[in-house]
Amino acid sequence: MSIQLLHDEESALSAQYEKLTQQPLMLNLTRGKPSDDQVALSSELDGILGDDYFAQDGSDTRNYGGDICGLPEAQQLFAELLDCRADEVLVGDNSSLTLFYQVLLFCRDVGLVNAQPWRSEKNYKMICLVPGYDRHFSICEQLGIEMLNMPMGDTGPDMDAVTQMVQDDQTIKGIIAVPRFSNPSGVTFDDATVRRFAELPKVAADNFCIFWDNAYAVHHFVDYAPLLLPLMDECRQQGTAERTFMFASTSKMTFAGAGVGCLATGSANLAQFAAYRQLMTVGPDKINQLRHVRLLKNKSGILALMQRHAVPIKAKFDETCNILATQLQPHPHYGAYGSWNPVQGGYFISFYTRKGLAAQVIELAKGARVKLTPAGSAFPYRRDCEDVHIRIAPTFPRLEDISTAMNTFALCVKLATIRQWIHTL
Ligand SMILES: Cc1ncc(COP(=O)(O)O)c(C=O)c1O
Repeated sequence: MSIQLLHDEESALSAQYEKLTQQPLMLNLTRGKPSDDQVALSSELDGILGDDYFAQDGSDTRNYGGDICGLPEAQQLFAELLDCRADEVLVGDNSSLTLFYQVLLFCRDVGLVNAQPWRSEKNYKMICLVPGYDRHFSICEQLGIEMLNMPMGDTGPDMDAVTQMVQDDQTIKGIIAVPRFSNPSGVTFDDATVRRFAELPKVAADNFCIFWDNAYAVHHFVDYAPLLLPLMDECRQQGTAERTFMFASTSKMTFAGAGVGCLATGSANLAQFAAYRQLMTVGPDKINQLRHVRLLKNKSGILALMQRHAVPIKAKFDETCNILATQLQPHPHYGAYGSWNPVQGGYFISFYTRKGLAAQVIELAKGARVKLTPAGSAFPYRRDCEDVHIRIAPTFPRLEDISTAMNTFALCVKLATIRQWIHTL
């Protein structure tokens, strides 16, 4: 194929692009947020208590008091979600990320049960799976925890490599994982990976901890989506439960801004963490916990609500993937424009451009009124060394806006790629 034909294609795409820069609205594909329809599924929460503010033990949730680990009925509900025992659960306030932050502070300043705090040593490092959740990385950065990248594979990271790393380097104090429908790769760990995670603290530093952020534990939108082996069962068998913290929340089940976050760890470690947290708060928002218990009731109640979320979410993911598949068919002479991972749950799609193009595509999309997450955000220190990854979050916009935004995105990918071919061929 002559270079002239590529130039012709570039001119045609540029003309289309120019028109798109006149689009009136800024469309936003950056935020992994539930849509208005989704949050409305739980509108019943408001007012669900009527005049009955009393917990199962008869206490009045409007007043001070109660256990720092939350209402026992809420602990039971979240134990079902996290696949562990109620005495391993602490139920907090509206964000699991706050708990995640507090747990890092706890590991650094106080220490896991029967272990030295990290700050008693000069260096402490964290293994971060990439691409990953930007806020995990900014928190580590803020707390001065050095981050080490580990690529995410199709069923989790390479566990031989992870095991070797934590064995060889005792300054590695933890690993962060989003084990089901990972943000943003959509990967779910297979059983072997979960088992290998449970073994890690046995070969790692004494104050090593697994940070298991199961934010998308029940967020599948197809039937028969891959299931996750319960980590805590495996950890108990390996004797590593006290070196594991698991997190989840109802942010993407009920109200994203007013849900309930929770964590779980071995019961001795939980007691130590609860004593630490006791000084930060007079106690969690028990009224919200009770509202959630009344609405969701148990795991079946959670799953029934999640089936209702699955309908609009699936429609949006299908639309996104269909547009990518039809608009980005490989070029007949030069090959693929990029690749992406079809997912069965979670809130994100990872799109991979050809090397060196992600930032340019994001910039082009911005010019055409489509906002994407900044280049590099899914990597520690915002460094995507190959400049290939783009995170797409299709849940929040309306379906028709997704079509416009994704068609625009595909055009930007094609334009950037053809320009690269022109310059490099
Ligand atoms: C992996 C992961 N963890 C935690 C959160 C935030 O959860 P929460 O709303 O419970 O703080 C998100 C939100 O996008 C997430 O993707």
